[in-house]
Amino acid sequence: ATAATAVALTVTGAAGAMAQCDEGEIVIKLSHVTNTDKHPKGIAASLLQQRINDEMNGKACMEVYPNSTLYDDDKVLEAMLQGDVQMAAPSLSKFEQFTKVFRIFDLPFMFKNMEAVDEFQNSETGQAMKESMVKRGLLGLGFWHNGLKQMSANKPLVLPTDAAGLKFRVQPSEVIKAQMEAIGVSPQPMAFSEVYGALQTGVVDGQENTWSNVYGQKFFEVQDGTTETNHGVLDYMLVTSTDWWDSLPEDVRTQLETIVNEVTTSRNAAIAEVDAEARQAILDAGGKIVELNAEQRQAWVDAMLPVWEQFKEDVGQDNIDAAQAINA
Ligand code: LMR
Repeated sequence: ATAATAVALTVTGAAGAMAQCDEGEIVIKLSHVTNTDKHPKGIAASLLQQRINDEMNGKACMEVYPNSTLYDDDKVLEAMLQGDVQMAAPSLSKFEQFTKVFRIFDLPFMFKNMEAVDEFQNSETGQAMKESMVKRGLLGLGFWHNGLKQMSANKPLVLPTDAAGLKFRVQPSEVIKAQMEAIGVSPQPMAFSEVYGALQTGVVDGQENTWSNVYGQKFFEVQDGTTETNHGVLDYMLVTSTDWWDSLPEDVRTQLETIVNEVTTSRNAAIAEVDAEARQAILDAGGKIVELNAEQRQAWVDAMLPVWEQFKEDVGQDNIDAAQAINA
């Protein structure tokens, strides 16, 4: 893992640089919405690009388009079905049109930490989720971690009642909308690329996201502070189109699969470090972080937990039980 981490960190600087694909190579366009520096997805995508282009030279070539330069997440999956991109890694909250199985990850306080998320995803139940969209033309290649979400607003948030009456940007997820409504917040779905502007101009008052996204998008600059709630998970599915995947020569598919699996394992093992680095970078840049004591955090748990009941049937009590058994 250490060697892989070192490699990944050295490619970060080159992230986003377009690969020069040669004539005859299978071109793999990977479109995503985050930055590439101090970001789990940005680093993983860059490493994937580097390994494919080094090890599959002459056969296949990857071009990574970060920062929503090619598509926002609300367009990328349609674009994939049209054959315009071959890979993407939207957050698990962005697949509602295709499957509801990922709703378990949006339920607040479902997993106690990222190790629990990792264990659940690597269980038989979790791995089966990669094939939950095959009928709709999408195949999951691997879960990619980002981390736990935090809350920020244009006023300090210590208790959930501090957020009541505010408007928060949310990802397009019914569970997240319900979670916000549970604390009296009005949820406003919006593309990731528009959030900074919306916070800056006051179109919305707050948002929830991970340290790497709060840092990467500079949300801390236009918020009063970020509260360390760790209330939910933001993870990704690296996804491809079944048509494209099935059309690949078998040796190419096998080699790609091996590289994807190795990148997934090594980068998922390194997220704690990337997350901590982004958190520290916010502080270094003058951003404010509000830490909660046990009692204050419990108030967020109490306010949000009723959301489970609303989605119990969609998510499946057996899946909830499996997640809770991992936490224990
Ligand atoms: C968001 O829309 O807030 C995130 O899903 C962005 C990302 O890809 O991390």
